[in-house]
Parts: sequence; C-alpha cells; structure tokens
Amino acid sequence: MRHFLEIDDLETQELELVLKLSAATNPPKVLADQGVALLFEKPSGRTRNSMEMAVVQLGGHPMYIQPEELGIGSRETAEDVVRVMAGYHTVLAARVFDHGLLEQMAATNSVPIVNLLSDIAHPMQALADLLTIEQEIGLGKVGKVAYVGDANNVWRSLAIGCSMLGIQTSVASPAGHGPNSPDLERVLIAGGSVQVTDDPSEAVEGADVVYTDVWTSMGQEDEKSQRLDAFSRYTVNSDLMAETNSNSIFMHCLPAHRGEEVTDEVIESPRSKVFLQAQNRMHSARGLLSWIVGEVAKHG
Ligand code: CP
Ligand code: NVA
Repeated sequence: MRHFLEIDDLETQELELVLKLSAATNPPKVLADQGVALLFEKPSGRTRNSMEMAVVQLGGHPMYIQPEELGIGSRETAEDVVRVMAGYHTVLAARVFDHGLLEQMAATNSVPIVNLLSDIAHPMQALADLLTIEQEIGLGKVGKVAYVGDANNVWRSLAIGCSMLGIQTSVASPAGHGPNSPDLERVLIAGGSVQVTDDPSEAVEGADVVYTDVWTSMGQEDEKSQRLDAFSRYTVNSDLMAETNSNSIFMHCLPAHRGEEVTDEVIESPRSKVFLQAQNRMHSARGLLSWIVGEVAKHG
C-alpha cells in the first residue's frame, strides 16, 4: 500500500506523473461514490479547501474531521481509528503536530495516508510549488531555487522535491535554524545539490525563484520573540530580489506575515506568484489523489 508522508515517497517518475495529472482539467471521476477523510489537528485555509474541492472534482465525498471527534490516543488508539476509517474511506489525509503519528497511522497499512502538513514535512505544498514553477518557468529550465528563512517543513519538502527533479537549491538561515545533517542527506540522496549558507545574498545570487515561509510555524508560538530576533536579517525585500536573476519570481506557501519574512512590496509585486501557488494546491491535490486512487485500484 502506498502512502504520501513526504515527497520522496514517490519515485521521480511518479512525481512527474502526479504533476501531469495535476494539469488535467477534466479528470475521470476516480473517487465516484467514495469518501476521503480529512483530519486536522491544526488550522488550515488552503489545505482544507483545496483538498475538499479536489475530492469533489474527482466525484468523491470529503469528510472534514476535527481531532476531538476522533480522540486519537485518548478515546481510541491511532491504529484502531485508522482501521475503522479504512472501512468508510478510500484515503485518510491528516494535518498533525507530530510526524510520528502519521507513521503510526501508515504502519496499519489499512488505507493510504496522506500528509497534509506535519512538524517536518508539507509534501502537498511542494507539489503545488513544483506545478507553479513548471507553469511560470519550466521545470527543465529553472536554475536555482533559493529559500530564505527557517529550514522547516515547507523547506524540507520543497528541497527534496526539487532535488528529485535535478533542480539546484540554496537555503539561507540563521544559526540554529538551518538544515541538519539528516535533512541534507535526504535532499542529496534525492539526486540534486543544495547550497547552505547563513547569508541571504549568497543564497539568492543567480536564483530564478526566491521562496520564504513564516519564521514561527504552528506549534512554535512560544519561541516567537526569540525567532523574530534571530530572523531579523532574513526579510525578503526589494533589495534582496534585486540581487536575483532579472526574471526571478517570488513564492510563499501562505499564510504570510507581511513585514516579517516578506515585505508588502515584494508580495504585491508582479514577480509574486503566491496566489497562483494557492490555487495550484487544488490542482495538485487532484493530481495526487488521482495517482493514489490508481495505486489502490492496482494493488488494493
Ligand atoms: N499553505 C498552507 O498549507 O496553508 P493552510 O495552512 O492555510 O492550509
Ligand atoms: N511552516 C508553516 C507552514 C504553514 C502552511 C507551519 O508549519 O505553520
């Protein structure tokens, strides 16, 4: 049984297929009469709405579930919850605090598990990001994708995804917030190269894409003031964008904290593709679901 907890759960050819399926505008209703459970332990605007609409477009029924309804680990074990849900739904997708919970759920092998964001990965976002880069620049043409900020869940999935497609990346973070060795190893195993620095200017030199995300992710709120200090030199502003390639684009998974990781001027500029990325969340969700339902049909 196939799960999607991180982008490299796909082979490179499968990633290319998912991106192709994402671009299909009138896909077969592969989820007709079927359910997809969407469990959220954290808030969500884009992920919930894009997943629900992707399920509808594939002919299925999305079921939004709040954690207290299931009581994973309190009312019932995770394993029991997943095996019960498997009786109703073709896919169980979840946004969780602890990535380990997704692994525990996947280990039951009773229904495909899809990661809707965990503390360490956001692969559904990376699919939309790659689709956006394909539309705006071309995956075969893009040079360097530079990430400025916290080497977090969004960075990790993006870096691995780019690496799988042979796209060079860079990451600029303050001390203590950069990639660790296992992260870098995973990016390199995926096939590409990654430039690691603490200097935003160095990271964006020659970049076709500049990407950033919030400095304080959900679940890290008590670190906010320390993080505001640590990242104060890492705002993506017009001066930094001027150091990139002349046709470069700006990307952000959203929600954005304007005035922190990005200025209003950059996010509102013609180079900013943030709303296209957000819209692509629905198209790439459709692509991933179409692929995973196809795998269920093939292997059960
Ligand atoms: N980018 C993203 O995952 O947004 P939401 O948290 O609103 O779902
Ligand atoms: N890194 C952010 C992404 C939100 C979509 C978080 O985890 O909160």
